[in-house]
Amino acid sequence: MEDYEGESPKPCLILALETSCDETAASVVADGRKILSNVISSQIPVHQKFGGVVPEIASRKHIENVIPVVDQALREASVSLCDITAIGVTYGPGLVGALLVGVSVAKALSFAADIPLIGVNHLEGHIFANFLSNPELEPPFMALVVSGGHTSLVHVKGYNEFELLGQTRDDAAGEAFDKIARVMKLPYPGGPYIDRLAKTGNPEAIAFPRALVGRDNFEFSFSGLKSAVLNYLHSAAQRGEEVDNADVAASFQAAVVDVLVSKALQAAHKCKVKKIVLAGGVAANSGLKFRLKQQCQQANLALYYPETILCTDNAAMIACRAYYQHLIGQYADLHLNAIPSLKLGHE
Ligand code: KG4
Ligand code: ZN
Repeated sequence: MEDYEGESPKPCLILALETSCDETAASVVADGRKILSNVISSQIPVHQKFGGVVPEIASRKHIENVIPVVDQALREASVSLCDITAIGVTYGPGLVGALLVGVSVAKALSFAADIPLIGVNHLEGHIFANFLSNPELEPPFMALVVSGGHTSLVHVKGYNEFELLGQTRDDAAGEAFDKIARVMKLPYPGGPYIDRLAKTGNPEAIAFPRALVGRDNFEFSFSGLKSAVLNYLHSAAQRGEEVDNADVAASFQAAVVDVLVSKALQAAHKCKVKKIVLAGGVAANSGLKFRLKQQCQQANLALYYPETILCTDNAAMIACRAYYQHLIGQYADLHLNAIPSLKLGHE
């Protein structure tokens, strides 16, 4: 007779897929927080020559990449499909054609191998990247989600309970970074380039506007700021004046950071939480992290953010979110569809 005493319990293994925009990603995560593999095939070089993501091309590239990426994720984790407990997949928000690739493949794998399927909200995934980088982190907390498509303040009350306090009325923070970078002839995506340039510039050189900064207003607007920066650059060009790109980058970044930091702190105060969590691609911004750290220290709040590779799109964050949905039995069936404008906290 075999002796099972002392044998460790089988881990819960989630395989997740992420194809909402321009990264084809797959990951295996054990027990919600231990990354066994995190494969990201970026399409950035493909889209760079167009200055932004071309949705049709993104879908085609996902189709080419998705199976090799899933294979690699399983191989690097040293597991096979039959070891997987559940399959998580991003089903929104995002580009519909891109999302459909991940959703279709996840459904096919789920059906073929008879493994439960879990539909994951991309924004919730970004927030959950923090649980991978910060094992001690637990809700409740205030999440500031800043990415290429979103700028939102979310009160995370529990692992499955979210309240959206406010979001952007127009451009997302990352979108503003990318558009300004484009006019400054920096490569796509421009956020990291502006970040780098801003380090050598004077953030007080140009007084760019800060929108909707009234008390307890948790909405954002970056289109006015974007226009102000573009006007500044165009008028200087028309007058034949040379601009200091580092000063423009630093002053623009300071305007974005000011608004994000002050609203995140106000939101934490209003909801009486003692932790602020940064999420999304713009969470990689060094100016934002620096100011938020300073302000959180002064206000006696704890600050968490994911390591850089988990800030931008990846499937490990989707696997982490899927794990907590698995724990409450929140599964999808084979009718799961892509929802490009999926709202937070909605099934
Ligand atoms: O989360 P993400 O990978 O994709 C979306 O879900 O949108 O975010 C991508 C965005 C891009 O707009 C990119 O420019 C921005 O994140 N980003 C940054 C930095 N790194 C990435 N923005 C500012 N500073 C950075 N260091
Ligand atoms: Zn994202």
